[in-house]
Amino acid sequence: MAETLTITDNRTGKTYEIPIKDGAIRATDLRQLKTDGEDAGLVTYDPAFMNTASCRSRITFIDGDKGILEYRGYPIEQLAQHSTYLETAYLIIFGELPTAAQLATWTRDITLHTMLHENIKKLMEGFQYDAHPMGVFLSTVGAFSTFYPDAKKIFDEQSRKKQIHRLVAKVPTIAAYAFRHSIGRPYVYPDNDLSFAGNFLNMLFKMTELKYHVNPVLERALEVLFILHADHEQNCSTSAMRGIGSSHVDPYSAMAGAAAALYGPLHGGANEAVLRMLAEIGSLDQVPAFIKRVKSGDGRLMGFGHRVYKSYDPRAKIIKQTADQVFEVTGKNPLLDIALELERIALQDEYFVSRKLYPNVDFYSGLIYQAMGFPVTMFPVLFAIPRTAGWIAQWEEMLLDPDQKIARPRQLYQGAGRRDYIPIPKR
Ligand code: CMC
Repeated sequence: MAETLTITDNRTGKTYEIPIKDGAIRATDLRQLKTDGEDAGLVTYDPAFMNTASCRSRITFIDGDKGILEYRGYPIEQLAQHSTYLETAYLIIFGELPTAAQLATWTRDITLHTMLHENIKKLMEGFQYDAHPMGVFLSTVGAFSTFYPDAKKIFDEQSRKKQIHRLVAKVPTIAAYAFRHSIGRPYVYPDNDLSFAGNFLNMLFKMTELKYHVNPVLERALEVLFILHADHEQNCSTSAMRGIGSSHVDPYSAMAGAAAALYGPLHGGANEAVLRMLAEIGSLDQVPAFIKRVKSGDGRLMGFGHRVYKSYDPRAKIIKQTADQVFEVTGKNPLLDIALELERIALQDEYFVSRKLYPNVDFYSGLIYQAMGFPVTMFPVLFAIPRTAGWIAQWEEMLLDPDQKIARPRQLYQGAGRRDYIPIPKR
C-alpha cells in the first residue's frame, strides 16, 4: 500500500491524502490546501532549512545520532586510513573508487593543471599585503570564469570534466600563492613530481633549496585532513554552490559564492575560534573556571556541539590520532594540554552530556594547522581546498537532476500593505 499522510484542513473541513516517498512529502503538494480559489495554497515555513530536503543526493551519508559519515557508502574511517585525497575526490565526484588505470589518468590530469595563468598571478599581486587569504582565494576562483569562458558550457560533459580538473588542481596553487603573498614571499611554482599534498607543502614552505623535501608524516596528515573535509552533504557552502549553480552560471562563479559562504565564522571559521579560546584560557588551572562560565551561559565551548552530530563527530576522532602523529614531528602545540583537559571535563559533565555536546571536527584541526606553521587566517582556505571536490560533485549532481530548477524559495510577506507614494515635502 502506498504511504500517505492524511491532512484535514480545519479551515475548510476538507481532507487530503499527501503521498510520502522516501520518507518525505513534497512541499508543493501542500499547495492544494486552499481556503478559496484566490488563495495561493499552503506553504511551509522553514528558516535555515532545518527540516527541508532540497535535493536527492547519492554523495554523502551522515547519521548524526550514531556518528556515521560515509562518502558514496564508504565509511570515513576507512578512507582516512587507506585512501588519498585525490582518490577520495575521484570517488566523491565520479561515484566509484577508481581502478589503478583510472587513478593514474586522474592523477595525471590533475597534475597537468596545477599551474596558474600568469595573469592570475598578476591579479593576485594586486591585493594589499594584509589581504585575508580567504578573500584572495574566493576572488581568484571567481576571476577564473573570465579566463575559462568555455566553462559556460555546463551541459557539455567534456567541458565540465575540464573545469573539474582545473578546479581540483588549481585550488592548492591559489591557496599557496595567497599565503605567500600575505607574508611577502615569492611564489613557488608547482612541483609535479610530488603528491597533491606534498606539492601543496612545497608551494607553501619552499625557500631557497633546489628541491623541497616533503616530510612524509606532515604530507599524510594533510591528506587525512583533506579527506575528512572533502564533503559534508547539504551544509551552508554546499547549499550556496547548488543554489548559485541552479541559475546555470559557470562553476567558477558558483564556487566563488560557495567559498564566500565558507569564509563566515559560523562555517569555516570555527577552528580559528577554538584556538582563540584556548589561548584565552591560557593555562590548565583556568580550565574549571572557563567550563563554569560556559555552563552559566557566558560564551560557548568552541569546537563542541554540532547541528547534525549528536554524538562524537567521527572526523574529530580521526583528527585526534593525526594530531598525535603531527606533534611528534613538530613538537607539541602548547595549547594541546588545555584542549585535552577541556575535553576530559566536558565529556563527564552533566551540562555537556545531557545536551549531547561532543568535540567536533574543529576542536583539534586548528591545533594541527598551527603546529604545521599555518596562520589562523589560512584555516578556512585549508578547508576550501578539499571541499572543492564536494562542491563540484554536488553542483554536477544538481545540474543533472531532472527534479531541479532555479532555486527560488517562497516568503511569508509581513511588510506594509498597499499604500500610495508620498512626495518628499509631505513626509
Ligand atoms: N558550548 C556550550 N553550550 C553549547 C554549545 C557549546 N559549544 N553548543 C550548544 N550548546 C548548548 C546551547 O546553549 C543549548 O543549550 P540550552 O538547551 O540550555 O539552550 C543547547 O546546547 C543546544 O544548542 P543549539 O545552539 O540549539 O544547537 P545548534 O544545533 O543550533 O548549534 C552549533 C550547533 C555547532 C552551532 C553549536 O553547538 C555551537 O555553537 N558550537 C560551537 C561552535 C563550533 O564548534 N562550530 C563548529 C561546528 S562543526 C563545523 C562543520 O561541520 O562544518
